[in-house]
Amino acid sequence: MTGPTAAPEPAPGDRRSPWSSTVRRTADGSLEVGGRDVRDLAAEYGTPVYVLDEADLRARARAFVTAFTEAFADLAGADVYYASKAFASVAVDRWVHEEGMHVDVSTGGELAVALRAGVPGDALALHGNNKSDAELERALRAGVGRVVVDSLAEIDRLADLAGRLDLPAPVMVRVTTGVHAGGHAFIATAHEDQKFGLSLASGAARAAVDAVLARPELTLLGLHSHIGSQILDLSAFEVAAGALLRLRAEVAEETGTLMPELDLGGGYGISYTGADAPPAPEEIAPALAGVVRRASADLGTPPPRVSVEPGRAVAGPAGLTLYTVGTVKPVVLDDGGERRYVSVDGGMSDNIRTALYEAEYTAAVAGRRSEAPTVVSRVVGKHCESGDIVVRDVLLPDDVARGDLLAVPATGAYGRSMASNYNLVPRPGVLAVRDGEARFVVRPETEDDLLALDLG
Ligand SMILES: Cc1ncc(COP(=O)(O)O)c(C=O)c1O
Repeated sequence: MTGPTAAPEPAPGDRRSPWSSTVRRTADGSLEVGGRDVRDLAAEYGTPVYVLDEADLRARARAFVTAFTEAFADLAGADVYYASKAFASVAVDRWVHEEGMHVDVSTGGELAVALRAGVPGDALALHGNNKSDAELERALRAGVGRVVVDSLAEIDRLADLAGRLDLPAPVMVRVTTGVHAGGHAFIATAHEDQKFGLSLASGAARAAVDAVLARPELTLLGLHSHIGSQILDLSAFEVAAGALLRLRAEVAEETGTLMPELDLGGGYGISYTGADAPPAPEEIAPALAGVVRRASADLGTPPPRVSVEPGRAVAGPAGLTLYTVGTVKPVVLDDGGERRYVSVDGGMSDNIRTALYEAEYTAAVAGRRSEAPTVVSRVVGKHCESGDIVVRDVLLPDDVARGDLLAVPATGAYGRSMASNYNLVPRPGVLAVRDGEARFVVRPETEDDLLALDLG
């Protein structure tokens, strides 16, 4: 176990860097992103604010598309879906689509945003363990490219609906393979006790395939699995892909139907603190292609077209949150040591991941350079909850003070998308920066927005 560390300095091109690729220190020590000094951004747009580096996000989207297109060129090809739960907005869905991605949505809201962004229906995948009839109908009417079914009951509901609407319903079956991955480790178990998917081990996945084949209103595209999040060890995908390809071969042999597609989900890890070197798309794609090539050859079945669904790895590193420091309080610990509590003007309402998952982040004083010695600090929010922690432990300069700007990198995914109005704090806007220009792609909420919902 290593102790707390300070945020690494921006290092464009270093995959361990938690900062997006256009973040730099200016000559006088401030941070700059997308060609804009954070002091100017804070003065013009206020804090807290999510700052999204458009060039960085686009480059990550493009890197996935290029790597998968190249690695699967001699197989049956590949598609990359942006998992828009990571952060869905009209601008971002449009950017990723312009860079060649398809988009995966898991609610009516995400569907509406993707359609508003101009993503065509056939480039959309609809997910969800509890899709409403209305969501299924809207997806079919939009000509959705695939519905990923998640239960036996949903198969019949979807088939009935497709029949009634007389619309095509391309389907993938979400399979739980028993492989769970996240962070550094993965485990493979036979039994499942979670809400997503249909178990391979229990036979539910095979039963679902048979149920889809039995309904002429549905077209069976293939099998889908999503094995976890923040995955740094690609071997977990190998185990899951192998299991899915075996089921595909078994179905082909027993029913004569060879499913044309295979979706291996998302979950590719990113660097949150500088400690991890996450795999790049240029490593992920050939690794997965190798698994599909070998397993298909071993099983004697032609390879499927493969899709993947990165969310965090596209949007996460492209975002940072800019806060202003308020109260700074030293707290004496039981062991006689000290921890500095540095309060910022946001907190668990704009980043719930630390409280929810004990997620790790780092933070840096953003508006100036400090040569002061560092102290163990905890970055906390302004909410009425002692678990309102943004960064659990980080070394910050001893002279951090009220009014300083503080930047938390790698908040582009599952930050704004999981934000709340706890304590009736308006949610921050999302400010896109590129080549020296800044514009809100999601405007900040105001107290008037909150009051407008309250009918008295
Ligand atoms: C089915 C599915 N696909 C893709 C993702 C995206 O995962 P990540 O953002 O970790 O890449 C998720 C995340 O929960 C998911 O459930």
